Amino acid sequence: MNLFTPLTLGSVSLRNRIVMAPMTRSRADTKGVPSSLTTEYYGARADAGLIITEGTGTSEMGMGYARTPGIYNDEQIAAWKLVTDAVHAKGGKIFIQLMHVGRIAHSANRNIAEAPIAPSAIRAEGMMWTDAQGMQPNDMPRALELAEISSVIAEFGEATERALRAGFDGVELHAASGYLPNQFLSPGANQRTDIYGGSIENRNRFVIETLQAMIAAAGSAGKIGIKVSPGMKFNGLDDQDCIPAYEALAQAISPLGLAYLHVMRTGIGAEVALRKAYTGKLLVGGGFLREESEKTLVEGRADAIVFGTPFIANPDLVTRLELDAPLQKADPATFYSPGPQGYIDYPVL
Ligand SMILES: Cc1cc2nc3c(=O)[nH]c(=O)nc-3n(C[C@H](O)[C@H](O)[C@H](O)COP(=O)(O)O)c2cc1C
Repeated sequence: MNLFTPLTLGSVSLRNRIVMAPMTRSRADTKGVPSSLTTEYYGARADAGLIITEGTGTSEMGMGYARTPGIYNDEQIAAWKLVTDAVHAKGGKIFIQLMHVGRIAHSANRNIAEAPIAPSAIRAEGMMWTDAQGMQPNDMPRALELAEISSVIAEFGEATERALRAGFDGVELHAASGYLPNQFLSPGANQRTDIYGGSIENRNRFVIETLQAMIAAAGSAGKIGIKVSPGMKFNGLDDQDCIPAYEALAQAISPLGLAYLHVMRTGIGAEVALRKAYTGKLLVGGGFLREESEKTLVEGRADAIVFGTPFIANPDLVTRLELDAPLQKADPATFYSPGPQGYIDYPVL
């Protein structure tokens, strides 16, 4: 067993266990449409066992950052179809990551005037980049009414249906990094007193119901995955004692039969607890290099390894790992800058 051993995740067969992490690259246009650069970028990385795209908005309300893509209209679907075709032409597999920013948003980055939504009306600490006004604090959100929550959940189902029409092999729910699903999971951001807040069971409800909506839309749980980042200090969240809540979530979603649970390591050891609590396939990412990846697979601590920054700087990461060749270092200055520089111009061996 090594990184190059094939793997089946739900209804999708991977030729290796090297997964490209979802990474926002801010190269879409202001209407959330991916460009031809994006087709080239993902196409160049198609020998990954699985590509997971950057976080992609389920609706205008779900958008909060500059130049990020969506999957809520026909123009976006058509652009994503070119991406999935490019990856499939090379025999690759690609999931889209569905993202709703919730309270992590600024009006200068949005095409609608309404305030962002969140479980509770609590502004997230921190600043975000806007092209028009530079760094800005996150906007003040309004709390979702109980009666509205089902329609936000339904958006994830509709986006799943559109993603499959765009040719994606599957769909990952972004329940990490402090965005809307993570805001529901977190007692810091979720102070609701109805069935979506308070107890662990109530805080986990939004994510579970969202997965159920996605499964119904896909007609198969084998095309649905979920990413979590327990304990991540980011976007105003800081839940250091969250492992029991994530164990409960893992136990609740195990019977759904998802393609996978994807855990980003944050240093609190949640990936160890979730390996035990979750019965399906586990993807683990966060700071992996070759040696540790092999060891993690051999010891059965994960079924596949997720690489983020190494994939930014090494389009041929799979080949480099295979040959034990040196890796190029990614330049953070071009992570989110517009245009081709730092996006499609890292050389291959
Ligand atoms: C530029 C950049 C953008 C990212 N955007 C996302 C994102 O859209 N969705 C997500 O779940 N994680 C995102 N992440 C986190 C990565 O998926 C991954 O968990 C993280 O980079 C750790 O893996 P690494 O150490 O291999 O880079 C991003 C990371 C980077 C570096």
